[in-house]
Amino acid sequence: MAKWISRMLGSAVLPEKQADNHQINEIDLSRLPQHVAIIMDGNGRWAQKRGLPRSVGHRAGVESLRTAVKVCTNIGIKYLTVYAFSTENWKRPKEEVDTLMNLLVEYLEKEVAELNQQGVQIRAYGDLAGLPLAAQQALTRSINLTAKNNKLVLGLCLNYGGRAEIVQAVNQIAAEVKAGKIDPGSIDEEVIEKFLYTRDIPDPDLLIRPAGELRISNYLLWQLAYTEFWLTDVLWPDFREEHFLQAIVDYQKRERRFGGLL
Ligand code: FPP
Repeated sequence: MAKWISRMLGSAVLPEKQADNHQINEIDLSRLPQHVAIIMDGNGRWAQKRGLPRSVGHRAGVESLRTAVKVCTNIGIKYLTVYAFSTENWKRPKEEVDTLMNLLVEYLEKEVAELNQQGVQIRAYGDLAGLPLAAQQALTRSINLTAKNNKLVLGLCLNYGGRAEIVQAVNQIAAEVKAGKIDPGSIDEEVIEKFLYTRDIPDPDLLIRPAGELRISNYLLWQLAYTEFWLTDVLWPDFREEHFLQAIVDYQKRERRFGGLL
């Protein structure tokens, strides 16, 4: 079994750092997190440390995203959701916002055929109407092309904020109540979940936050209620397969009680 996993993972390994067999042997494939969420943080610091423009850090961050997708498809994680652009990121200089939007379009245009072949279904969560037209069009094309795939659901959080997501859900529910379609007395967690961007996917089991920050940054506020957090000082562009596997190994050592007792 271990050899088989090792062979499978071989294709995702980046040359400079290989996941060692010891780490791979430790993973129980029958108890993988079904859904992993990632805050891709530290691109700017990675670039600054090298005296490079922040845009180079973001580009390097796309490489780490590629690696994360490969790890998921290789070992069988079903949902990967990444924070690519928050509702607050518009406050950054226009040049950086443009870089991020261009990178998104470039990523989708360059990779969608391969992602499609790998069985990846692309989705986007957030206020997509607020994105530049080119980004909206690239997303629509990628989402439509990959809609039937079921190996991995790759969720891109774009113009996304956890609070904004809850506000839009409340507004939609209020409109349904007004139209007589929802009885206000029937509103429970299940009803609210139906109006979230993530309505038909399970909550994340594991949240990975690189770059040493200890905050949630308005990410998946509803969905992270019982998610296990895995934090590391490694900056996102340095995040490799070995880090992802370590997060899974550590996750499998946790006792998840969901507020109850074991
Ligand atoms: C946070 O790092 C990262 C972002 C705001 C953007 C993340 C985007 C990418 C990894 C690439 C584009 C995404 C796709 C889907 C192609 P930061 O810049 O805030 O880092 P810092 O805290 O070190 O400044």
